[in-house]
Amino acid sequence: MEAISIGLLGLGTVGSGVVKIIESHQDKLMHQVGCPVEVKKVLVKNLSKERAVEVDSNILTTNPDDIIKNPDIDVVIEVMGGLEETKEYLQTAISHHKHIVTANKDLMAVYGPELLSAASENGCDLFYEASVAGGIPILRGLVDGLASDRITKMMGIVNGTTNFILTKMSKEGSAYEDVLKEAQDLGYAESDPTADVEGLDAARKMAILSTLGFSMNIDLDDVKVEGITDITEEDLQYAEQLGYTMKLIGIAHREGEKVEVSVQPTLLPESHPLAGVQDEYNAVYVYGEAVGETMFYGPGAGSLPTATAVVSDVVGVMKNMRLGVNGKSAVTPQYDKKLKDGSE
Ligand code: NDP
Ligand code: HSE
Repeated sequence: MEAISIGLLGLGTVGSGVVKIIESHQDKLMHQVGCPVEVKKVLVKNLSKERAVEVDSNILTTNPDDIIKNPDIDVVIEVMGGLEETKEYLQTAISHHKHIVTANKDLMAVYGPELLSAASENGCDLFYEASVAGGIPILRGLVDGLASDRITKMMGIVNGTTNFILTKMSKEGSAYEDVLKEAQDLGYAESDPTADVEGLDAARKMAILSTLGFSMNIDLDDVKVEGITDITEEDLQYAEQLGYTMKLIGIAHREGEKVEVSVQPTLLPESHPLAGVQDEYNAVYVYGEAVGETMFYGPGAGSLPTATAVVSDVVGVMKNMRLGVNGKSAVTPQYDKKLKDGSE
């Protein structure tokens, strides 16, 4: 192959990072996959907006068909966010035999199984490493690294924005609104940060993690959610005085065929390893029957960390192309059964 052509849906925080990494790591990409990687078209809403990265204005478009139906595009990277419209774009792209890489947990938590089946039926890869815990390769860690084990529990911090807010409120006494604004300016928060602060973003990630970890189809509705909006600076200060730290913790627990998944603010003793996870960083403990306890840690949000996961997924697509095994993706869960409460 002369070059691999990318169509990028979105050029915001993550999309800009993707362009930067593809440009600055071309040597590494060549080494990994044996041909150059080229961003051919980029979908945006506003053509005249100032961008965090320089791109040729000729490759910008506001027409999704320039990417999702374009015969010259091999891989569509979706970093625009959104749900219904985005799902339609990806379905169209898949029907035009494009491989997909997405960072969209909203989409994958709700329509993941449907999109993965469509991709597989069309011989396309659909990878979504960046959808959970930003730059931490946790999905491949679960699906490949721990492939032989039975996962019994996962517990961790999977939202960077709320961890940033709680860290700054408790360590620096900052006001909630100020820190939320800072998290938005740094590109950690969702375009509507309600999903972050009300725990929904973490719930989406826990649904994806438990679907993959437990090989069961866990719906978003199965996840009990409570966010951080009721937590005050006083609560955090009292907790500190008593030697505790407040974190928004996701827990997924499997016992036999019964699974429980929740997200809620939790007081941790300061000696607990998750209590030391600060700012936008994420960490997830994964307990396996044979392996015991493993911990995944790293930046959970932000432009370059997230874009690293996205571009690494593109490398995965390209390796599969060389082997001729696209559509038999490693990050496709093998659903045992649709079980939530012990009954089929
Ligand atoms: P941004 O809001 O920064 O960027 C979104 C981009 O998509 C913008 O360039 C915007 O265009 C474009 N866009 C949005 N809707 C449309 C549309 N309907 N038509 C055309 N273009 C559109 O988002 P992020 O980069 O922060 O996030 C993107 C995705 O990645 C989301 O799914 C998010 O959940 C996920 N994600 C984000 C992380 C982060 O740290 N930010 C980490 C992990 C995942 P324009 O610029 O013209 O407005
Ligand atoms: N808004 C998300 C967060 C982005 O703060 O964790 C990374 O998924």
